[in-house]
Amino acid sequence: VVKLLSLDVRNFKKLRFDSSIDFSDGITLIAGLNESGKSSMLDAILYALFGRVIRPLKAKNEDLISYGATEATITLECEIADRRFRVTRHLYKSKPTRATLDEITAKGAVLPVAAGQEKVNDEVVNLLGGITYPEIISSTVVAQKELDKLIELNRDDRRKVINAFLNLDSFNTVTAALSEERKDLEGTGSRIGKVHVEREKLLLLRQELDQYRRNAEEKSALEKQNMTLAEELRTSQIKFQEQNSLCSTLSRYEAAARAKENLSLQLTSKRQICADHLARSERLHKEIASIQAELDSYADYEKTQPSLERIKMQLEKAKALSIELSTTERSWQATQKEVGTLQSALASEGDARVRTQAGQVGKPILPFVVSSALLLLGGFAAYIVGVLPIAVALIAFGFVALVLVVLRVNATTSLLRHQSMLGDLRYLDQKRQDLLVAEQRHLQAERDLRTAEEELASLCNSIPEFVEAFRASRKMGTMQAGQILLDVAQKSREGKNALQVKLATVRAEMQKLPPENELVKVQKQIETLDREFNQLTLPELPICVSFTPEVLSDALGGRDEIGRKIAAAQSRIEQNSQRIDSLDKYLTENAGIVPKVQSQEELVKRLERQLKVIRRAIEGIQSTAESLRTRIRPSVQSHMASILPALTSSRYRAAILDENYGLQVWDPDAGEYKPRDVYSGGTEDQFLLAMRLAFALALLPEVKGHKPEFVFLDEPLASSDDVRRSGIVEYLASDLSKKFKQIFIISHVGGLEDHVQNTITLDEGKVV
Ligand SMILES: Nc1ncnc2c1ncn2[C@@H]1O[C@H](COP(=O)(O)OP(=O)(O)O)[C@@H](O)[C@H]1O
Ligand SMILES: [Mg+2]
Repeated sequence: VVKLLSLDVRNFKKLRFDSSIDFSDGITLIAGLNESGKSSMLDAILYALFGRVIRPLKAKNEDLISYGATEATITLECEIADRRFRVTRHLYKSKPTRATLDEITAKGAVLPVAAGQEKVNDEVVNLLGGITYPEIISSTVVAQKELDKLIELNRDDRRKVINAFLNLDSFNTVTAALSEERKDLEGTGSRIGKVHVEREKLLLLRQELDQYRRNAEEKSALEKQNMTLAEELRTSQIKFQEQNSLCSTLSRYEAAARAKENLSLQLTSKRQICADHLARSERLHKEIASIQAELDSYADYEKTQPSLERIKMQLEKAKALSIELSTTERSWQATQKEVGTLQSALASEGDARVRTQAGQVGKPILPFVVSSALLLLGGFAAYIVGVLPIAVALIAFGFVALVLVVLRVNATTSLLRHQSMLGDLRYLDQKRQDLLVAEQRHLQAERDLRTAEEELASLCNSIPEFVEAFRASRKMGTMQAGQILLDVAQKSREGKNALQVKLATVRAEMQKLPPENELVKVQKQIETLDREFNQLTLPELPICVSFTPEVLSDALGGRDEIGRKIAAAQSRIEQNSQRIDSLDKYLTENAGIVPKVQSQEELVKRLERQLKVIRRAIEGIQSTAESLRTRIRPSVQSHMASILPALTSSRYRAAILDENYGLQVWDPDAGEYKPRDVYSGGTEDQFLLAMRLAFALALLPEVKGHKPEFVFLDEPLASSDDVRRSGIVEYLASDLSKKFKQIFIISHVGGLEDHVQNTITLDEGKVV
């Protein structure tokens, strides 16, 4: 039995009691205007018991503490199985809620039962026999506007609620435990199941086993391969030795042949050197002899040198004389020409000089010039004035004076010319003298030149070596021929000089030739080389083999090929051995894989079996619970049949509930069952209220532990008319009060006070 005894609320939501109020048995009406704090009172009781409220859904302390206050306190006393308990909750804005659960003994002693928000919550659920907040809310507490709470719950939650009331808790616990175990095995979205994990492990182990077997096979294959390879290696090594000895013979042969060839090359070159040397010295000797012979022919030419010098001098002299001759000739001719010119000039001037008036010579001229000018001017002036006779007289005298002036000037000029001609005649005589001298000189020069040329010719004729050239060109003139002779002599001198230079060059070349003993040495070397060549013998080759470089390179190639094969086989054997070692190590280390796989297979099999069993068990429990739960439905239906007429003024009487608690009500007008939402809103609320009450009544006999003796109905009359309202109140008073000791009706509708035992009126959060 669970009953509510008293409640004190300070600053919780709108509520601020002055003192605690006591609850009595029977129907209690909680009355008051809208927002006076009626629903808040239900929240306060629920918060005291479970630490939760209906509204707001996720309440924080600051939503629950009165606006403006910093802390709130709720104290609830209740009776559970004849024991008295007190729950106190202190809410703070800025720190965690403090909660205590105490037992009050009959003597008034206080025994602490639990402290702390969570511990108190758990202990209350425990004392209520496992009934939790959602279960209360879905059954004996019908919250405002939440009539359909039970129907709206999801299937599992509803099952849990019904299970709780049907004392099927152990089913819940077992199902939960089994589900947990099943999840453990099966896994969930966020967690991997054990079966899966072990299966994966098994998979990995099987893969390892496969690997193990493959490795074992590989190892035996490799061992077999190594045996074959070792056999091949032995054969190859024998072949290699044979080929190698052939190669060395051929190489030696090649070296000897090359040495021989080398010797013969040296011999040839040395012999060539000797031959070259002899040929060269012979040629040089011959050349020297011929140059010497040529030079000998020039031997007498040296003696001609003084004669040539003399000829040269004589030639110079003759040239100078010839120049002088032409000079004298030119001056003679010029003088001759001048004399001729002077003679003819003097001859033409002789007559003119005879007619000169001797009387006028030496008389004055100037007075007559002045007087003639004055007279002419005076005449001209008289003519201008107009004295004509005087003008004529003066001009006539002026003319006379002018004639006298002309006569005297003419006489003076002739005298001067006569005097200059006398000078010219004297000059002509002088020139005639000069001409004679020049003629003499010219003749003398002609004689001198002839003498000089004769002397030159006799000198030239005295040199037999070059006289030939002189005679051949004599026609051109003695001097020219002399010059040609000198040129020929010059040329032969130059030829001789060139020969001497050539001789010197050849001699120098001769000097460069190696000395005789050197040649002897080379000859000795030739002998030695010849001996060496004859002593060198070639090694003997195997039958059918004749040496060529190709044969040798083929043999070497063959040998190298075999060598490579041997190396390859050896490295292959080495690799294989290493691999065999590592495989061997792996196989010994993993020898336990076979039993491991076996035991893992067993484990997986066991887990799978276990999972199967759990699944079956859950199914069994659930179907058992389901059959128990379905037993409730007929009872709910029968309770509804008695409640419905009371709540609907006897208009509706029968209702059925399907598996999902879908509600259908018999409509007398339609003559059939209709789903609840077909009816008017108010009527639907009445159906739901009827269902909630019927449900609570049907569950009561089955309820485990401590059955709640109180039922809360928040605004159950809101959507009913006066007639139905009084029907509801009547039902509560007559029928429901037989089943529950405490019925709390929260209602803002007035006029109910006469139908209830107790009334708590609230105004602005205070109990009036
Ligand atoms: N923490 C709070 N402090 C003060 N008033 C609150 C608080 N929370 C809600 N209220 C007020 O309490 C009133 C609701 O009280 P309620 O009990 O639901 O009224 P009713 O009597 O109609 O059921 C509203 O006026 C709301 O504003
Ligand atoms: Mg309300």
